[in-house]
Amino acid sequence: MADLTAVVHGAAELATATGELGGDDPAGIHSGAAVAVVDGEVAAVGPTDEVTREYPPENAAHDVDATGRAVIPGYVDSHTHACFAGDRSDEFEAKLRGTTYGELLASGGGIHRTVRATRAASDEELVDNLLDQLDVMVAHGTTTVEVKSGYGLDTETELRMLDVIDRADRRHPVDVVPTFMGAHAVPRDYEGSSDPVDADDYVDRVVDEQLPAVEKQGIAEFCDVFCDEGAFTVDQSRRVLEAGAGRGLTPKVHAEELAHRGGAKLGAEVGAASADHLLHATDEDVAALVEADVTPVLLPGTAFGLGADYADGRAMVDTGAPVAVATDFNPNCHSQSMGFAAALACVEMGLTPAEALVATTRNGARALDRPDLGVVREGAPADLAVLDAPSHVHVPYSYGVNRVATVLKDGRPVVGPEWTGERDTDSEGGR
Ligand code: NIG
Ligand code: FE
Repeated sequence: MADLTAVVHGAAELATATGELGGDDPAGIHSGAAVAVVDGEVAAVGPTDEVTREYPPENAAHDVDATGRAVIPGYVDSHTHACFAGDRSDEFEAKLRGTTYGELLASGGGIHRTVRATRAASDEELVDNLLDQLDVMVAHGTTTVEVKSGYGLDTETELRMLDVIDRADRRHPVDVVPTFMGAHAVPRDYEGSSDPVDADDYVDRVVDEQLPAVEKQGIAEFCDVFCDEGAFTVDQSRRVLEAGAGRGLTPKVHAEELAHRGGAKLGAEVGAASADHLLHATDEDVAALVEADVTPVLLPGTAFGLGADYADGRAMVDTGAPVAVATDFNPNCHSQSMGFAAALACVEMGLTPAEALVATTRNGARALDRPDLGVVREGAPADLAVLDAPSHVHVPYSYGVNRVATVLKDGRPVVGPEWTGERDTDSEGGR
């Protein structure tokens, strides 16, 4: 028999994120609304009196009174490097004193430092660290998150990271989408040798050793590459992404972050799910992405942390691009908050709060090839966040403050009054 999982009722505002970016009502707002959830899926959306007549809250496993509050889709954070060990807060201080990201990387800090710490950490430490990050994310309203490998840069540690990501996914209510990113940086040295590493030679290893092992392991869904100054060239990146696609991994690309190098056009050429960062992208790049149906993912937290210029989100939305906004949470961009990313998208990139809502929910899902997520509509998984505020506008308006009061994952409370805080301990074996 169908199970009435939850009824969320009395919402001052339900933002379904079903409208069009650039349209009159991108956030798809309903006032005085309710959502009924049957077997974890949205069964009805509409005025509270109508929905509760058919689905009485008292019959539901979870009666969620949202009187005076806003309800939004759970955030889909489509770009993070949340699996790592170590602490780089001192690099944050160094950057404030003027050291650049490129200088840190070139001197063996940055990604290389996190690689050393991650290689040295046990699997258990890495799982615990990632579960802690997922706890923070869900408390801020995120219900699906992409997590990349890329702090191993050798076959063993890259596989270990993907396994850790998979184990954390099984133990935590947040859904974790795994991406292989062996081409995150050229490693400083190979184990057992102090000879400098040639980038082309490392790309050979990614293509000939890492990718076959990743395919055999069967966890990763996407293959990403850092196509940028101080990382991989367009040709090297193309080799990695084409080889990944040949092994069943959908391409993604870090493009035009530190400099303009052609990664966006490469993303269009290889049919990537997304091209991410785009701080230095041109109008032509954006047109190529739109034409090839590649989701542009903007990561304003990174520009904030680097003190860099922001990607021109307003112009992208105005050309019809399905812009997504994500956190880029990593040791260089240490914020798990999609609400903060939304605030930066509004204040620094010129998106409206409604556009930022769509960018952090439905378009994040688009960047992960999960069109069923990030919206509130019949048949969709009931991933919802209830705010302690009357409208979605209060998310960017309350910059720096978490307005998420309750989170439902598949209709079950995972943050808020009914949440016990327990992780799924029985199971490394499946949710
Ligand atoms: O998306 N740009 C490359 N990768 C990350 C940074 C990773 C790091 O610094 O540890 C990014 O910003
Ligand atoms: Fe990144």
